Amino acid sequence: MKTLTIRKPDDWHVHFRDGEMLGAVAPYTARQFARAVVMPNLVPPVTTVKEAEAYRARIMAVLPSGTEFTPLMTYYLTDQANGGEIAAGYRDDIFAAVKMYPANATTNSAGGVTDLVGVAPVLEQMQDIGMPLLVHGEVTDPEVDIFDREAVFIDRVLTPLLADFPGLKVVLEHITTADAVDFVRANAPNLGATVTAHHLVLNRSHIFEGGIRPHRYCLPVAKREHHRLALRQAATSGEASFFLGTDSAPHMASLKEAACGCAGVFTAPNALEVYAQVFDEEGALNHLEAFASVNGAKFYGLPLNEGTLTLAKKSTVIDETIPIQGGESLHPFQAGSAVSWGLE
Ligand code: NCD
Ligand code: ZN
Repeated sequence: MKTLTIRKPDDWHVHFRDGEMLGAVAPYTARQFARAVVMPNLVPPVTTVKEAEAYRARIMAVLPSGTEFTPLMTYYLTDQANGGEIAAGYRDDIFAAVKMYPANATTNSAGGVTDLVGVAPVLEQMQDIGMPLLVHGEVTDPEVDIFDREAVFIDRVLTPLLADFPGLKVVLEHITTADAVDFVRANAPNLGATVTAHHLVLNRSHIFEGGIRPHRYCLPVAKREHHRLALRQAATSGEASFFLGTDSAPHMASLKEAACGCAGVFTAPNALEVYAQVFDEEGALNHLEAFASVNGAKFYGLPLNEGTLTLAKKSTVIDETIPIQGGESLHPFQAGSAVSWGLE
């Protein structure tokens, strides 16, 4: 059997949620990844060191004992952001980064930023201390077509942001367009990007394949095929600016299979396997380690993981459904289908 051993990978963007859901999803991530950047869009969001420490403890508490896993916590940026709290949390290794959601851009983002001018002093400080800003790169202007919101964000928000803070480390999260790929390349090395597994697999037609497919709907929404191909080329290139971030975003199936279904694709159960299949299809398995285990850590200025993980080329069936409390369930990405790689 063909196998591939790589340095232990990290997930630079994941949603763990809280309570019962946290217990159901976090062990999947810890099975594959040594570290994960945990998104702060809880209700209410994580905006203090104390909340982040408590959340980190709740994450560790749901993992099987002896699991070696480090959650990297993030601060949820609001118009009222507290620079002192952010700097103290970064200094004390509680916060790895700050997450910026434009207000109302996506799930649990109502408290997000309405105007970056107001948080300029905080950004200035982050630039000084080298703390990364993670951005959800979509404008919320209802006049802008949903498929254009990332490209317009790059023009209207990201370009001026990088001009105003040329030394700030920024990650454009879960990129979905060729525009983003080009922009990230043009702004290396201070701008990086995470790429999800599902955006390497789906184009926008797949959301409507034979009917509406709520479990393929996330934000930013998948784009045209040429964008997907640009993402595949970038992710598998080995270039330092592109790194693994699943944006695994679980929602109860009942909330996705609804008249107004939530955005978010739940990839955590088999994310690494799906990435491996994509890299294999692109003839780029030799770059999987850079994408999954090296580029992100270097961007964040963190040490590389010491251990290794072995993948094997073997058909692995993704669970159909994952039950959680009250008869509810989660529906993983590509549920019930086979992925051509598995963990050994
Ligand atoms: C995420 C969620 O559900 O929290 N949803 C999504 O579609 N990706 C939020 C986000 O990252 O946009
Ligand atoms: Zn996300």
